[in-house]
Amino acid sequence: MRVLSLINQKGGCGKTTVAVNLAAALGRKGLRVLLVDLDPQAHATLALACDGEHGFSLRDVLVGGESIRRAIRRTPFGVELLPAAANLAEFEEVSARRLKPENALRDALSVVAEDYDWALLDCPARADGVLSANALRASSVAVLVVETGAFALQGALRAKKIFETTAKAQGSRFDIRVLGTLFDRRTKCGRELLLALHARFGREMFDTVVRESVKLRESAARGTPIAFLAPRSGAAEDFASLADELVALELAVGRDLELRPFQAPARGRTPVRR
Ligand SMILES: Nc1ncnc2c1ncn2[C@@H]1O[C@H](COP(=O)(O)OP(=O)(O)O)[C@@H](O)[C@H]1O
Ligand SMILES: [Mg+2]
Repeated sequence: MRVLSLINQKGGCGKTTVAVNLAAALGRKGLRVLLVDLDPQAHATLALACDGEHGFSLRDVLVGGESIRRAIRRTPFGVELLPAAANLAEFEEVSARRLKPENALRDALSVVAEDYDWALLDCPARADGVLSANALRASSVAVLVVETGAFALQGALRAKKIFETTAKAQGSRFDIRVLGTLFDRRTKCGRELLLALHARFGREMFDTVVRESVKLRESAARGTPIAFLAPRSGAAEDFASLADELVALELAVGRDLELRPFQAPARGRTPVRR
């Protein structure tokens, strides 16, 4: 099982949207996917039309010692979900009294490591909290989700530094990749920012960029991933293409190996799709 976390130190940049729709796109390719909602706001849980307030949720696994298998739920979208509820915030308190609280998620996930090809972790906005520390500890790749709006480059560099510092402090090893979202090609600012991100992050940047789309907002509100709500939409295409990039990477390096850097794009190839 590959563990991939969606990170950024700020909210509203599209982490949950990417987590949910990338999970569904990987599921559609026949891969076994577990989505873990690490945010007490439970938006990923709601986006898959689940209710974390009833039944077991991530809090019960991390705090109550509940078996992870009993807390995982099937969804109609080819993705299994470890839901969050508001009480996940209790984990912060409890972990203050624990030794190495950042290992809790990794240990729980190790139980189901043979059951899935991918586990996607939807992280909360707070980068310095114990939930984010757990995500980084469990991950082999952390995807920094960057909204391609004003000040994106500065924000992305700052975020990368924060996560690298955490990783170093806790002795975690993972690759960082950068994904542009909420891209509006009609604006000069958006196009320039995307080029600046590619120039700065180079091969760490995904070729795929997720475009801004009203359908994605609708899909969250309806609790239905875009691949099911509007399978022929541009937004569904973006996530299918992102899933392809990830899978190609897996095939290139083999399942049991650490992720390796992407090949640098061939000369002359433009980094922006479409
Ligand atoms: N590519 C996109 N196009 C249009 N709206 C988007 C896109 N990505 C995210 N959104 C919307 O922006 C808001 C914040 O996105 P969300 O994924 O919840 O961010 P985060 O998890 O980083 O807080 C939500 O209302 C979501 O529907
Ligand atoms: Mg979120």
